[in-house]
Amino acid sequence: MKIPVLTYEPMRIDGNGYGENDLVALASDLRQVTDAGFAIRPLREVVDLWLDGRAADLSPRTVAIACDHGADFDYVDLPHPRWGVQRSVFNILRDFAAQRPGAQPGLNVTCFAVAGPQARAALDGTCMLGKGWWRDDWWPAAVGSGLIHIANQSWDHNHETLPPGLATGARPGTFRTIDNERLAEHEIGQAAAYLQAKAPNPGTGLFAYPYGDTNEFLLRDYLPRRSRPLGIRAAFTTRAGFLETGCGRWDAPRFMFRRDWSSPEELAAILRAAADPEGDWVPAARREWNAATAPQRPETPDAFRKFLVSRVDPIPGWLHMEAALLTEHLARAQRSLGISGPTLEIGVFKGKYLAVLYALSENDERVIGVDLFVGSEDTAKDVRTVHDNVARACGDSRRLEVVVADSLALDARTLERHTGGRARFISIDGGHTREIVFKDLESATPLLARGGIMALDDVYNFTTPGVAEGVANFFLSRKPALAPFAACYNKLFVTHPDFHGRYLAEAVRFAEESTWLATHEPTMARRRENLSGGFTPTLFGHEVLPFL
Ligand SMILES: C[S@@+](CC[C@H](N)C(=O)[O-])C[C@H]1O[C@@H](n2cnc3c(N)ncnc32)[C@H](O)[C@@H]1O
Repeated sequence: MKIPVLTYEPMRIDGNGYGENDLVALASDLRQVTDAGFAIRPLREVVDLWLDGRAADLSPRTVAIACDHGADFDYVDLPHPRWGVQRSVFNILRDFAAQRPGAQPGLNVTCFAVAGPQARAALDGTCMLGKGWWRDDWWPAAVGSGLIHIANQSWDHNHETLPPGLATGARPGTFRTIDNERLAEHEIGQAAAYLQAKAPNPGTGLFAYPYGDTNEFLLRDYLPRRSRPLGIRAAFTTRAGFLETGCGRWDAPRFMFRRDWSSPEELAAILRAAADPEGDWVPAARREWNAATAPQRPETPDAFRKFLVSRVDPIPGWLHMEAALLTEHLARAQRSLGISGPTLEIGVFKGKYLAVLYALSENDERVIGVDLFVGSEDTAKDVRTVHDNVARACGDSRRLEVVVADSLALDARTLERHTGGRARFISIDGGHTREIVFKDLESATPLLARGGIMALDDVYNFTTPGVAEGVANFFLSRKPALAPFAACYNKLFVTHPDFHGRYLAEAVRFAEESTWLATHEPTMARRRENLSGGFTPTLFGHEVLPFL
């Protein structure tokens, strides 16, 4: 037995292409797994056969399919404000069954749902668009169709954006802190009872850890002890791997769409390894980047990585790959929140980070770079160089304006004349003295759009101590409505306080999912140490994720 559990997050919609829309990928993958000769079986059935020692009854080519969170995208077609009407998981299954009658007699998706109604109502506003798209009135009909099972993904996800009234006292943003009986009953026991009452179905016997996290208490004590009364047979992490003999029933692995595959070719690699008892699966993100195939405008995370290597790396300047990748991840998060607007960078040099920011801006968004080109004898030539570099990397530089100016002589009003409005993203990377950093922050802060993000360069660089001094002076004396949330190598990312929780969660998610980056292990290990020791890295009163 070597079974991939293919998992999607239907609420994650960043476009209508395969790599940016979990629903579009699901529809395509159903056809692909079928054409590859795999049988789709309900996850609960697979787990039962596995645990009852009857795995041999399963075809050697079997997959199970799951979705996370249980939002309404699982059942009803919904009009996404940016990307149009989205076919639901349920309707995708029905479409498939109609197009390929009898091709998959066990066709089924297990939807792991956040069970608590109040938590879903709150998260609908903080994680989605606040349109009331996280209900449970469809559960009985979905279960009744036989195409969907509703499974347990905790009571409230222990989510970091839950309002104080729903707090349990456990540190949010991870499931590792659900480490005693009271918390486990709140998160798992209560959810199991609710699901069994609201939508009794085989899926209630399956649990998926929010954030994919578990801990010794849940693994070795709570789940083994409480599984029978709660009716839970297995629990799933987000560790990549096949369900196979020898893997733990309380920390079973799953393949996560986008992290483990983001194209039909990458799914084919998983299926090939599944069909071959000796076959190894190599994580998609470790594949060699192929500069020759890099597109002009990177539309998916994978294309963006190629873009960085082939197009941005050759531009002289200062940029860590990790900071650029996090910038891309955050820009996607902004898009899914509907935040748009121009981009501003103070201090562009040859346009290295500016090329990244240009690539991440939309076709109708202006990009403004400000630089004095200190020491230059021909600033017109410098401006041409920046345009050339951005155009070479991104295909054009039509929306770019490079302003030659001393930022000490600018203020928010003059900058806004160039940007034409509040900026979605601002990078402060000009003069590295205390005075200039202070002034640049003072000019740029009022220009930040609601939910905008600012990247402050070299705040922790001991060779440029004036930056730390200027930033500290600004935050302590002006007390701006800005909240730092991630310190990723050369850049400190800040936003407005009411967006802090979302972007911190996105930064954590990026760190967790980037298993192929050298920063992944040390960053996550330090976070675990901090969580277990009760230490929170905090800057100007806000939690920050430090990347190591
Ligand atoms: C560290 S470099 C910027 C690096 C760039 N962001 C990149 O991606 O490579 C700093 C830039 O700030 C500019 N600069 C320094 N003082 C400035 C000032 N007072 N006003 C505007 N630009 C300034 C310098 O000319 C230089 O190009």
